[in-house]
Amino acid sequence: MPPYTANSEVRPVSPVPVTVVGIGADGWPGLAPTSREALRAAEVIIGGPRQLDLLPTDCPAERVAWPSPLRPAVPGLLSEHAGRRVCVLASGDPMFYGIGRTLAEILGADRLRVLPHPSSVSYACARLGWPLHDTDVISLVGRPLGALSAALHDGRRLLVLSAGEDTPAEVAGLLRERGYGPSRMTVLEHLGGNRERHLTDTAHDWHHPPGAPLNVIAVDCRRDPSALRIPLTPGLPDEAFEHDGQLTKRHVRAATLAALAPAPGELLWDVGGGSGSIGIEWMRAHPSCRAVTVERDPVRAGRIARNADALGVPALRVVTGAAPAALAGLPAPDAVFIGGGLTAPGLLEACWDGLRPGGRLVANTVTLESEALLTDWYRRHGGDLTRLAVAHAVPVGGFTGWRQAMPVTQWSVAKPTDGQEGPGRDGPWRRA
Ligand SMILES: C[S@@+](CC[C@H](N)C(=O)[O-])C[C@H]1O[C@@H](n2cnc3c(N)ncnc32)[C@H](O)[C@@H]1O
Repeated sequence: MPPYTANSEVRPVSPVPVTVVGIGADGWPGLAPTSREALRAAEVIIGGPRQLDLLPTDCPAERVAWPSPLRPAVPGLLSEHAGRRVCVLASGDPMFYGIGRTLAEILGADRLRVLPHPSSVSYACARLGWPLHDTDVISLVGRPLGALSAALHDGRRLLVLSAGEDTPAEVAGLLRERGYGPSRMTVLEHLGGNRERHLTDTAHDWHHPPGAPLNVIAVDCRRDPSALRIPLTPGLPDEAFEHDGQLTKRHVRAATLAALAPAPGELLWDVGGGSGSIGIEWMRAHPSCRAVTVERDPVRAGRIARNADALGVPALRVVTGAAPAALAGLPAPDAVFIGGGLTAPGLLEACWDGLRPGGRLVANTVTLESEALLTDWYRRHGGDLTRLAVAHAVPVGGFTGWRQAMPVTQWSVAKPTDGQEGPGRDGPWRRA
């Protein structure tokens, strides 16, 4: 086996214990010589039964099938075979939604040798003539269908990793429901194998029976002109949300998201969720953004979950209960939004205490009582106190006049990190 290191300039060259070999539907004949050599030299080959069946008889290694569920079994299996030359078989590119990620987490990248095969999305792009770098990839393997909604934009191309043979019909149903019935879908089955098959139709006309469980769905998104356009930036149209009036309206919402300033991987507490719009727009900022919304009214909590699903962020966590009690035990957030319950005793204190140092807190109110509270906290902690007064032009008889919405007072502040002291008037970006 050739020696391998993750970075040969700074680490000594040494053989590594586990080699991960990507294999496609074309099996052994499709493997690169390096991958074949690694498999022939292995003492143990671990893989799914389907992948193990692709190996020829002249691979003398002991063959071990992954148990199900896989993840909890991995550390035990690896230690059981420690010290032997172990190869793990993975489908396609092991580092793309594959076992490679789990192995890297457990073993560390420098104890792993990865020999990739083209992934299903590389094959799909090759068949369709689509540039992979200009195609959005969404996995529905072990993930809710609703996640696809966030990726729907007119003219955009998507590749959807299917959970099984029923996924194409489910995707077609979702596309129709979201006003994307005219989209062209191509289901690509057994990519790279001798049973490869492609099936194309619009989502609107998709009535095909289930095909192969191994498939990728290519979607050329086309929005029905009558369907609501859902853009990328915060401040979605109010009609995008199901609501009972408890909704931070579009212009104030856009200003609120700007103050909350989401970044990849960050966690938000949306306290007093209402219709869920703030947590939802936070999560739409990046697929890795996470949010917990706390809403005391169970009917509204149900509505928040529906809005999250419809707008492509079904992973939004909805806690039904009254803050501050309902905040207990939640993971520390990077940002907190308070849209309701400001005058509940101890609520602002609990949000402030829970926020990680350097995190942002933004609170909106339309009442004088809450405004007095925010003014007091502003005096003590600094930040920005802002008044947002939005007016819309409406018909007045045969003329046009301004209809003023209730002005919203917004306090936004960054919690000092260790070593920062006292009130200041800097905005969240300078102090975070
Ligand atoms: C003005 S709405 C928030 C609107 C929300 N940001 C949106 O855009 O949908 C205030 C919400 O806070 C909820 N609420 C008030 N006090 C609360 C508390 N102590 N804990 C949790 N929710 C509370 C109310 O039920 C209401 O749904």
